[in-house]
Amino acid sequence: MTEILRDKASLRQWRRGLPETKRVGFVPTMGALHAGHVSLMHQARETADVVIASIFVNPLQFGPNEDLSRYPRPIEADIAKLEAARVDALFLPSVEDMYPPGASTLVEESLVSGPLCGALRPGHFTGVTTVVLKLFNLVQPDIAFFGQKDAQQCAVIERMVRDLDVPVEIRRGPIVREPDGLALSSRNVYLSPEDRAAAPLIYKSLLAVRTAYQGGEHDAARLAAIGLGVLAQSGRIRAQYWEVRDLDSLGAIITVGGRGALLAVAAHLGTTRLIDNLVIGGD
Ligand code: PAJ
Repeated sequence: MTEILRDKASLRQWRRGLPETKRVGFVPTMGALHAGHVSLMHQARETADVVIASIFVNPLQFGPNEDLSRYPRPIEADIAKLEAARVDALFLPSVEDMYPPGASTLVEESLVSGPLCGALRPGHFTGVTTVVLKLFNLVQPDIAFFGQKDAQQCAVIERMVRDLDVPVEIRRGPIVREPDGLALSSRNVYLSPEDRAAAPLIYKSLLAVRTAYQGGEHDAARLAAIGLGVLAQSGRIRAQYWEVRDLDSLGAIITVGGRGALLAVAAHLGTTRLIDNLVIGGD
């Protein structure tokens, strides 16, 4: 049975009751769980003795014109998925419990958060680092699992953990995709049938650029132009960025060197914003 902990007090009590020798694995989420989230639960189950997930739609990481109010919240279906994945506990706090009136402290990472999604979603990563550090302080996990789907989020959290000496090991799980290549996302349910049909071009653009790289094209700008060209095959996809970036800092690069690079794309289909990425080279 997955024990449901609905506030910070019951979480703390649950945590205090665990033997010190048990390794605690933690998977933070915003719910609307799909096979990508569940794959992280399975990794946690394989690695840790005790597995806890959280579901909290964190208002602090949504911009004023983003989808906070319409974010899907199928809590009963989510709990069934956590039960099936043999997750021991679910932390399901309210907004009031996580952010009592008067909360005035933020956690800001100031380098890796800057480009890509950080430039387009001001305050987003500060919302993420603030809630993730709070969750780490409450859950006190030994290992925490994040998806490579949100590569910049992983990089920002790894920096925060390193810079603030947070005693947790961060593991990245691979991107889980639909059979046609579309990366699973809680936001895919918003896509119209026509947009859903066009969406796999995002992954195809990443694969096309990897092929070009393997064929000898190492110039970052030319590689990005190839990716944008593939997206342009559908008039429905409006690219926000298509970038070739340094794996650690996410800073701009001129050529893809021996360490490889991150291909990162963000695009709108209708009002839905999708992101995807692929690591190339480095082998
Ligand atoms: P959420 O979007 O619910 O994602 C929870 C975790 O699932 C993240 O680590 C994300 O990278 C991972 N994930 C999402 N889609 C995936 C896919 N297709 N394959 C593999 N993993 C995938 O990310 C957040 O929530 C929030 O920002 C959070 C970290 C919980 C802080 O509020």
